[in-house]
Amino acid sequence: MQTRTIDGNAIARELRAGILTRAATLTAGGVQPGLAVIRVGSHPASSVYVRNKIAACGEAGIHSRDIHLSETADEAALLDQIRALNDDASIHGILVQLPLPRGFSPERVLEAVSPLKDVDGFHPMNAGLLAVGHPRFVPCTPLGIMKLLEHEGVNPEGRHAVVVGRSNIVGKPIALLLLQKGATVTICNSRTPDLRSITRQAEILVVAAGKPKLITGAMLSPGAIVIDVGINRLADGKLAGDVDFSSVLGTAARVTPVPGGVGPMTIAMLLENTVASAERALASGRTRT
Ligand SMILES: NC(=O)c1ccc[n+]([C@@H]2O[C@H](COP(=O)([O-])OP(=O)(O)OC[C@H]3O[C@@H](n4cnc5c(N)ncnc54)[C@H](OP(=O)(O)O)[C@@H]3O)[C@@H](O)[C@H]2O)c1
Repeated sequence: MQTRTIDGNAIARELRAGILTRAATLTAGGVQPGLAVIRVGSHPASSVYVRNKIAACGEAGIHSRDIHLSETADEAALLDQIRALNDDASIHGILVQLPLPRGFSPERVLEAVSPLKDVDGFHPMNAGLLAVGHPRFVPCTPLGIMKLLEHEGVNPEGRHAVVVGRSNIVGKPIALLLLQKGATVTICNSRTPDLRSITRQAEILVVAAGKPKLITGAMLSPGAIVIDVGINRLADGKLAGDVDFSSVLGTAARVTPVPGGVGPMTIAMLLENTVASAERALASGRTRT
């Protein structure tokens, strides 16, 4: 079987062009979408992620605020900052870059973000809305995966989807989204015995385990659509997904590469959620004009 590589960069570029148009329409109407990104301390990977997000906002016509609290800031200072942004009508999305330094409670911090500006979709209220089938903000990576499948013309209805990983940011929400689309969903975790016997049943396989090359071609059924969420830095400095890319060629029908698959979609969906938030704010009069 010829395996086709899904080009996440190209699909994200296409979606970003549409987001730029929507942002321009909002701006012309007096409401430029705005995203605030808050980080605390100096986690090296976080500064790169934040820089990329701020640059992506600029290209999409979204104004951004990069708020950097020092290593010595405490949780009260962070919560004050979040509350000020919750009340700031020019900001439609608030993102707290994780991980937070030791001593901070991520749960308390994420719950402080207004559920109406929670563009990461991590607030328990938004997680609950997704679980009951009325999503408002959906976490960016799972939302990006659904857009990839849609773009590829893959309809999950009636298919067996297997998700490897049960995190709140990827595994659980992607399982719920696939379920809502009518897939039969199996969710695996680190305690799942005989993972291969389950992944071999997958027509759609989403892998978000953070374990390089966990999935090989022998663990697939021929024709599977494989979405690799993993981003792992190997000892030689190279990036690898959770799927052994070369070994699935010839067995999978389609596969996302790492890098260049799910990653670019995640950033595109952050922009999507921010613009959608500004559109909702405008429609409900929750904004300055
Ligand atoms: N492309 C992107 O934009 C993007 C976005 C987010 C995350 N990621 C990447 O995606 C990966 C997962 O992220 P995450 O935040 O979901 O990670 P996480 O919170 O560490 O969760 C990993 C999940 O995988 C499960 N798991 C680990 N080893 C397993 C195994 N051998 N068999 C079956 N399940 C196993 C774990 O099970 P237990 O719950 O039992 O421990 C856990 O539920 C990471 O590499 C991360 O860097 C990429």
